[in-house]
Amino acid sequence: MDSGLENIVAAETVLSDVDGQAGRLIIRGWPVETLAADKPYAAVLGLLWDGFFPELGDDAEIQAQLGRARAAAFALVGTFPMESGVVEALRTGWSLLNDSEAFDDAIAFPAAAAVFTAAAVRHGQGLPLIAPDPALSQAQDLLRMMRGTPASDAEARALDAYLATVSDHGLNASTFAARVIASTRAGLGSAVLGGISALKGPLHGGAPGPVLDMVDDIGTPDAAERWIDAALARGERLMGFGHRVYRVRDPRADALKAAVSKLPGTAGRIAFAEHIETVVLQRLARKYPNRRLETNVEFYTAVLLEALDIPREAFTAIFATGRVLGWIAHASEQIGEKRIVRPKSVYRGPVPEYA
Ligand code: ACO
Repeated sequence: MDSGLENIVAAETVLSDVDGQAGRLIIRGWPVETLAADKPYAAVLGLLWDGFFPELGDDAEIQAQLGRARAAAFALVGTFPMESGVVEALRTGWSLLNDSEAFDDAIAFPAAAAVFTAAAVRHGQGLPLIAPDPALSQAQDLLRMMRGTPASDAEARALDAYLATVSDHGLNASTFAARVIASTRAGLGSAVLGGISALKGPLHGGAPGPVLDMVDDIGTPDAAERWIDAALARGERLMGFGHRVYRVRDPRADALKAAVSKLPGTAGRIAFAEHIETVVLQRLARKYPNRRLETNVEFYTAVLLEALDIPREAFTAIFATGRVLGWIAHASEQIGEKRIVRPKSVYRGPVPEYA
């Protein structure tokens, strides 16, 4: 019995490899650092979906298809509720899309992620919604639709770096959920909905908003030690730290730190975050001398998305906008396995008397 499935290998994949001892992440042959540095969203989609959809064109064609699909998704905005939160609105909006295994239906999900996330943010802020511009890249248009002003090249590059960094990560909880659902042949849309439902929990993709709450609550560098000691004494988990697989620093943390440091005006916030990180790591090493807990992807996610003026309530939906590329690739790979995923359980309940 292995309730967290940590020692179970449940899939062979060509998509990504997480080396938790060396602190390396390979996505389709590329180190994550390379993807973060120079692959825009359409290129990452092309990389991850290659081999699963014969219709897949070059990066320019994918970008154009994403643009057209964003315009189509915008027609659905207003037909579903957006009150209960941004990630919930994205999940609800996605549930209206076609649930098949076809490419045209699949590409609607990443495209709609940008539209529904931006719309839910503006709806929550009481601001008028902004229609997509199909001529823009996914990152440029997402920022423009959400904030109401065009994104600078540096901002679009930083968002692309984030989306590429989180696009895939082995058999994480949401990707596993997506693969289980795809194995039943329910459709790629169902797999995506399962993925986002698993992602939104605070132990997975729900962490970066609370990271920023922690940073804000600490407030000043000299308050860090007291704040962190008190949180640990209360038995709380510090968001943005620890990982099931990594026993060293999550390589995505530095990829994101590099991306945010290219944005003007971020040096002070990065220095403050680094200070908090140093104190947390010191305290966690003291509390758990036999279990190395390190910085994970979510810590600098929070710093980067904040620098892009993305409100914290949208962080998990933005994560889903990146990770949906991996969910659809994994779901497609699982469909190729032609076998339903069906593990066993050990019964510990009462046993009836049989005659
Ligand atoms: N803060 C304080 N204590 C922690 C933390 C943390 N961030 N992470 C783990 N611990 C503690 C656990 O409570 C456990 O203590 P115990 O033995 O007294 O119960 C001990 O360290 C060992 O835990 P692990 O086995 O390393 O944790 P696990 O692999 O089950 O969980 C997880 C990994 C969920 C990521 C955990 O580290 C955590 O909750 N982190 C905070 C939330 C977070 O940042 N999530 C994002 C992860 S990255 C991603 O999903 C994209």
